[in-house]
Amino acid sequence: MDSIYLDNNATTPMLPEVASAIADCHARLYANPASQHQSGRRSRQVLDEAREGIAEILGAHLGGKCGDRLVFTSGGTESNNLAIRGLNGSRAGQIVISPVEHPSISATANECARQGCPVSRLTVDKNGRVDPVQLDEFLSRTTRLVSVTAANHETGVLQPLPEIAARCHTAGVPLHTDAVQRVGKLPTDFGRLGVAALSVSGHKFHGPVGIGALLLRHDVKLLPLVHGGSQQLRLRPGTEPVALAVGMFRALQVWQQNAEQHLDRVTRLRDRLEAALVREIPELVINGSGALRLPQTSNMAFPGLDRQAVVMALDLAGIACSTGSACASGSRQPSATLQAMQSSQSIIDGSVRFSLSGLSTEAEIDEAATRIVKVFKKLRSIAPARKTASPPPHEPPESL
Ligand SMILES: Cc1ncc(COP(=O)(O)O)c(C=O)c1O
Repeated sequence: MDSIYLDNNATTPMLPEVASAIADCHARLYANPASQHQSGRRSRQVLDEAREGIAEILGAHLGGKCGDRLVFTSGGTESNNLAIRGLNGSRAGQIVISPVEHPSISATANECARQGCPVSRLTVDKNGRVDPVQLDEFLSRTTRLVSVTAANHETGVLQPLPEIAARCHTAGVPLHTDAVQRVGKLPTDFGRLGVAALSVSGHKFHGPVGIGALLLRHDVKLLPLVHGGSQQLRLRPGTEPVALAVGMFRALQVWQQNAEQHLDRVTRLRDRLEAALVREIPELVINGSGALRLPQTSNMAFPGLDRQAVVMALDLAGIACSTGSACASGSRQPSATLQAMQSSQSIIDGSVRFSLSGLSTEAEIDEAATRIVKVFKKLRSIAPARKTASPPPHEPPESL
């Protein structure tokens, strides 16, 4: 066995059936879906079917005057930018976000702050969860928008969205959620979550890179970021990428056909990896393990080691993993998520993310555990003595 890919939160390999659906579409449906001729109308029909199919799998109801809307974007980053800048955009007021957001939310909010918009940040507990009660302090007539991630990209920790949504609803403030890491891993029902808007990215669930979506509840207002033609209700003008939309739909369909087995299998593999490593490395800390987490994500601290050194040594040993979000990897910036969780410095310094997918196998996980232990022991034997905080006792992972 050569390399073992455990960086699926950064991106997932495209499924062969998705690649062939895209290729087929490129070959047959090249006409612009805005064109009036027959070929254009065929492209439009396939695009609409993909839009409706994705919305249905995600529990949104499109169509009619009171229907929800699905706006195709270029990916999670654009969906999040569109939401933070555009939701309720005609109303001045503060933006409230959690401190464990992906940079596509936090950096956009920082930019809004630079332009004079007040931005408030909630706090999280030691597992990285927002306590919904604290929202009451931030919700007022002058709040334009709240954005809280559905699942953290580094630890996989899930947020109590329905409780947060209920509070926002009472206050009449729209709630956006970045569900980029959740969609295609856990059942996600837009209507039941109670959010006003939800971001999706195709390449996180074995679909194509370069397409995402923003789901919008029927009653929520959005100002566009770009201006042009009348495509997508003028909310995101530009020629729609029909083949990519079809690919994203196909990837979601494949996931949906086996959603339950997928969840059980990936959770079992993730737990198997964690158990094998904890057995051999008792000081290992699994960040966020006291909360409900995504099935595929495991963020582990090797106290006393440097995370960059661990990732590089694992790469040489044939394991692809990362120190945090793909946008931050390679940077020496400490993890904002672990900082917000008030993790100790040695945990922040030594934390690495392993992320599995439905394509991961038991043999790969067992081999990965063996290689990780070997790398740990080697690095530990040469690491300068660092002050290590004693790790907290392992909390049993809750089940989903
Ligand atoms: C939670 C989260 N939001 C947004 C993004 C950005 O998505 P994209 O790469 O499609 O722009 C990522 C990517 O890692 C993510 O993990």
